[in-house]
Amino acid sequence: MSEVIHIEANINGRDRAFEVAANHTLLDVLRDQLGLTGTKECCVVGECGACTVVVDGMPMNSCLMLAVEIDGRDVISVEGLATDGRLSTLQQAFLDVSAPQCGFCIPGQLMSAHAFLQRNLDPSIEDVHEALGGNLCRCAGYLQITEAVMLAAKAGRE
Ligand code: FES
Ligand code: FES
Repeated sequence: MSEVIHIEANINGRDRAFEVAANHTLLDVLRDQLGLTGTKECCVVGECGACTVVVDGMPMNSCLMLAVEIDGRDVISVEGLATDGRLSTLQQAFLDVSAPQCGFCIPGQLMSAHAFLQRNLDPSIEDVHEALGGNLCRCAGYLQITEAVMLAAKAGRE
């Protein structure tokens, strides 16, 4: 039986205090404990990016982080992108160019793109490729995903 540790973190804009098992990953806790199942579980070894969330502004593979590591930090999962039921500009751009195919990789793609656009609203296509390089898409929707991020960047500049 693993040790249980009390942590406090801001999850999707809301301060939360809860107990986590010392050996549970952030991915485990988001999905199984907090019910935030938008974050996807796939390779669980840091290779696919499906589990990406944003921690203190940086995209992180939640399968590689222990949940205790988020103590005192800000975490945004895909559920935190919409505001009052309205999709974010980035989410809407993904829909506008039909980027989601099976959709499995999309939460991770969105979170990497969200973190990236916080730092760069005037990217080149190469910048987008580099920022999303850790997010694999089995449906090979890379063209549309890149197009969506460029569209959201443009909307963010206007
Ligand atoms: S599930 Fe975390 S990188 Fe693949
Ligand atoms: S849309 Fe199917 S894996 Fe990317």
